[in-house]
Amino acid sequence: MNKEVKEVKKCRICGSQKLYRFLDLGVIPIPNGFLKKEDLSKSENKYELTCQLCENCGLVHLTNVVNPKIMFTNYLYVTAQSKIMLNNLTHLAYQTYKDFKLDKSSLVCDIGSNDGSLLSLFKNLGTRVLGIDPAQNLAKIAIKNGIPTEAKLFGLQTAKMIEKKYGQAKIITALNVIAHIDNLHGLLSGISHLLSADGYFITEFPYLLDLIKNKEFDTIYHEHLSYFSLKPWIYLIDKYDFEIVSVQRRRIHGGSIRLIHQRKRPKKNIAKKTLDYLLSLEKTAGLYDKKAYIQFAQEVSNLKTELLNMLIDIKKQKKRIVGYGAAAKGNVLTNFFGIDNSMLDYIIDSTPYKQGLYTPGMHIPIKPEEKLLSDMPNYALILAWNFADEIMEKQRQYTKNGGKFIIPIPKIRII
Ligand code: TMP
Repeated sequence: MNKEVKEVKKCRICGSQKLYRFLDLGVIPIPNGFLKKEDLSKSENKYELTCQLCENCGLVHLTNVVNPKIMFTNYLYVTAQSKIMLNNLTHLAYQTYKDFKLDKSSLVCDIGSNDGSLLSLFKNLGTRVLGIDPAQNLAKIAIKNGIPTEAKLFGLQTAKMIEKKYGQAKIITALNVIAHIDNLHGLLSGISHLLSADGYFITEFPYLLDLIKNKEFDTIYHEHLSYFSLKPWIYLIDKYDFEIVSVQRRRIHGGSIRLIHQRKRPKKNIAKKTLDYLLSLEKTAGLYDKKAYIQFAQEVSNLKTELLNMLIDIKKQKKRIVGYGAAAKGNVLTNFFGIDNSMLDYIIDSTPYKQGLYTPGMHIPIKPEEKLLSDMPNYALILAWNFADEIMEKQRQYTKNGGKFIIPIPKIRII
């Protein structure tokens, strides 16, 4: 086996070896590995992308872990400057500040702090802040923007260092990062060490129930090691004496869940009713049973046939198609479906650093968003489907001029 990759032989939550492989998305490059023109002729490192279910606790996770140094040391994913994302972060910061009566003495630590977007909101509200992120390039940006950041992977050792240097945290946030972490027990023991006795740990991650229901297979990629439902998550936090006191389903990223945890208290848990309801939904959807996953894999295969037939049909009519949003998930979809530059002329994207680069694997050029209106291709396949409404709203003139959007997920739609 490639030394850059570690095979996962037991469940990272419960340790069971009863693992059922249900989805094979092939051998593809890291989906955030965008390329410069001069690198196109060089060979790209590719890694198997296969998913499995732990039949004991219900955790869905990848069968391999690519060395995090390869994926995250120079991480090019910058928190998207989308309205939805910004509203989500603002909602979280304001609600936390108000509900937990934070003040200038409260320390807020953000695990996976990226460019410091969330912490700058807390800083403006008047709390102390500290970012923790292994990406050196992003930590530098955050520090330059006035957000103190430790460029480290989070675990018990880092937690001890931080606690010594800055004291305990009243709030620890970890948004869309827990899926990236291999050692979940190290994460929880680190949080347990760093959080004050009356502190809260807040996390948000894509919810497996939405992923399965909406066939969001393209959100499965090397960076995302785990796909959580509540059952295995509760099994994990219980071991560290945490309980969930608030649970909210949120629309972001194709359906996410926001959880607030505190150390277990003897009082009746106020979130129990909602948690029981969601656990019953998970059970009804068959999330702990391999049958649901066999069906999911079949549905993904049907989607591939349907989308490819549609695109081939459009090309036969000599019409032009481009992609919209050079998202990592788009690179999974194009690689797995074999959609290359002969199908998509280019992909447009609002992120300046991606423009001028090429997508990993399929080598499709990335152009600025303005090109859509000046070039007027017949169709735009929205690869960043989680932002489809925002994109279509922004590009109303394209539709007015006769352009059409194709949205692949959860169901193929032409608008
Ligand atoms: P993400 O879902 O991984 O954040 O990726 C979304 C991609 O879509 C990101 O590269 C930015 C791009 N995008 C646009 O090009 N235009 C937009 O209006 C939005 C919201 C995102």
